[in-house]
Amino acid sequence: MEKSIIQSVRQSKDISLEQLKALLEMTDEDSKEYLFSQAREVTDDIFHREIYLRGLLEFTNYCKNDCYYCGIRCSNKNADRYRLSDEEILLCADEGARIGFRTFVLQGGEDPYYDDEMICSIVRKIKERHLSCAVTLSIGEKSRESYEKYFKAGAERYLLRHETADQEHYGKLHPENMSLENRKRCLRDLKDIGFQTGCGIMVGSPYQTFETIFEDIKFMQELGPHMIGIGPFISHRDTPFCDEENGSVSMTLILLSILRLLFPKVLLPATTALGTADALGREKGILAGANVLMPNLSPVGVRKKYLLYDGKICTGEEAAECNNCLRRRVERIGYHVTDGRGDHPDYTF
Ligand code: SAM
Ligand code: FES
Repeated sequence: MEKSIIQSVRQSKDISLEQLKALLEMTDEDSKEYLFSQAREVTDDIFHREIYLRGLLEFTNYCKNDCYYCGIRCSNKNADRYRLSDEEILLCADEGARIGFRTFVLQGGEDPYYDDEMICSIVRKIKERHLSCAVTLSIGEKSRESYEKYFKAGAERYLLRHETADQEHYGKLHPENMSLENRKRCLRDLKDIGFQTGCGIMVGSPYQTFETIFEDIKFMQELGPHMIGIGPFISHRDTPFCDEENGSVSMTLILLSILRLLFPKVLLPATTALGTADALGREKGILAGANVLMPNLSPVGVRKKYLLYDGKICTGEEAAECNNCLRRRVERIGYHVTDGRGDHPDYTF
């Protein structure tokens, strides 16, 4: 039964709500392994067992937003706030380039301290020093004009998870001053401007249902993202969702595989949250169809402060250690890390 659904999803690159439910509810190990193997086949055909690394630079944990799930939300008075200077960011990028990264992801809370000119100047400086590297921004919701400035400065990718495409669900995860409409507007603007654009969700976020995940898939099909970031929701002790159940690893892996079947060429990370929820989560993610890893490049001194959820891994190691560890893990499961920039296969400059 499940096998025929999996085949049908693979061939049609589409899924019904009933099919989605049937797959997400699978518990039988053989059926799950069949799904993973199908997703792996699709990934391997396109990416030839190559895994792309992105050096993640968490440059500020100040945020003006108050998302109920997030450990660095502005209401969390226990968060120990930090901001990295231009110089510190550039030093991290230099170290990243030295150890072989060709993509830097500048991620942070929505921190008005870094105005557009500062962001553009950081992007330009990174590109000047590391000509062959790609810069990804993940700094939240901005105006179209701001996004255009970042693009002109040389940033070529942008990550902005939509979090959920269901209006009611969105309202349960965010305060009233945030809107799904604006989130979607941002994603459409980013794509239209020419960014390789990433959306995504947390798996098992409070109030999520099969129906909301189905809406997420419909939204993704309409948007046509280049990247999709999904990882399990993990609760943080200082948020309104402190007592909520964490997302399931099994469901995250199943959804990764479904996304791979639906979007064969998409860039799909095995996230740090997946590695936090399960010690072998990132390996399992790759074996379920993921093809990107995002090792932490932030200075060790600030890593524990960028705590989106409890128990986050890789907060004590130097960048080079994380890099070596991940490369070994990838080799162990029969894949290898590539030195390429890892653009979306259809992306043209
Ligand atoms: N401010 C930027 C934004 O809004 O896109 C980037 C930073 S934000 C912290 C990055 C992502 O972390 C969010 O899109 C969210 O999906 C994820 N995240 C936040 N809290 C989380 C939690 N408790 N468990 C798992 N993922 C979480
Ligand atoms: Fe702003 Fe999480 S609430 S980054």
